[in-house]
Amino acid sequence: MTPERLQEVREAVQEADGVVILTGAGVSAESGIPTFRDPGGVWARYRPEDLATPGAFSRDPRTVWEWYDFRRRTVLACTPNPGHEAIAGLLLQRSDATLVTQNVDGLHQRALEEARAREAKPNDEPLPDILELHGNLLRVRCTVCRMRADHREPIRTEGVDTLPRCPDCGALLRPDVVWFGEMLNSATLEASFAAAASAQICLVVGTSAVVHPAAGVPVATLQAGGDLVEVNPTTTPLSGRARWTFRAPSGQVLPEILAAPD
Ligand code: APR
Repeated sequence: MTPERLQEVREAVQEADGVVILTGAGVSAESGIPTFRDPGGVWARYRPEDLATPGAFSRDPRTVWEWYDFRRRTVLACTPNPGHEAIAGLLLQRSDATLVTQNVDGLHQRALEEARAREAKPNDEPLPDILELHGNLLRVRCTVCRMRADHREPIRTEGVDTLPRCPDCGALLRPDVVWFGEMLNSATLEASFAAAASAQICLVVGTSAVVHPAAGVPVATLQAGGDLVEVNPTTTPLSGRARWTFRAPSGQVLPEILAAPD
């Protein structure tokens, strides 16, 4: 991570006509949130088929909600790190920057809200949309009707009858995340690929790039003639296609390459 390469990428990002950022769990690692596939990661301790599938929820909604309540409390106890903050700063500076995240921890949203609150002049413009491919732990949705809402309170998991229910139709609520075997939201997916295909640079940050269709987003930038920047301490299936790679934590690299123009 020489100063020259950092400067080269900083200029490339500033001059790019359209920037898209794809993040994975690694961007939240420095906030204390475990990734999925690193040693000791989430899938080393829990079996996804037992907890993150529609079948698991219909079989045992209480246990699934217990696990998600634990994950919600974990992420709410963590704070955005300099990597999240650097991305939030870029999104507020540039209307041609798009964030696509696989993360469900809500830390990008919180970083954006905090960056807006820190802005010198009051700004009541809506915050930029974050394309959340896999949903958000801090939102719930109804298992029957179309109700969806932000929800950050603790979940009462003493019994099935204490689990959260839809205020509109009374059915069980579930975490608004994409479970294994479920389709991603098609509008979010289309918007992600459209943003990638019209960006000159795609930053691929903190993802093992093994889960599709998310891992295909950076390829859309390449196919349109753009370049990849990979920020990840380890190599991934996309590493060989990146014009620049930084084998370092995103909390260190992103503030360097996304700094506002001098
Ligand atoms: N900075 C940048 N990258 C990091 C850091 C860090 N500080 N720490 C770890 N990483 C990298 C790891 O090297 C790894 O490549 O983050 C990546 C995390 O990979 P995964 O654990 O596989 O997480 P992710 O790529 O987000 O998984 C994709 O899989 O299980 C599903 O829905 C889940 O959204 C998740 C998807």
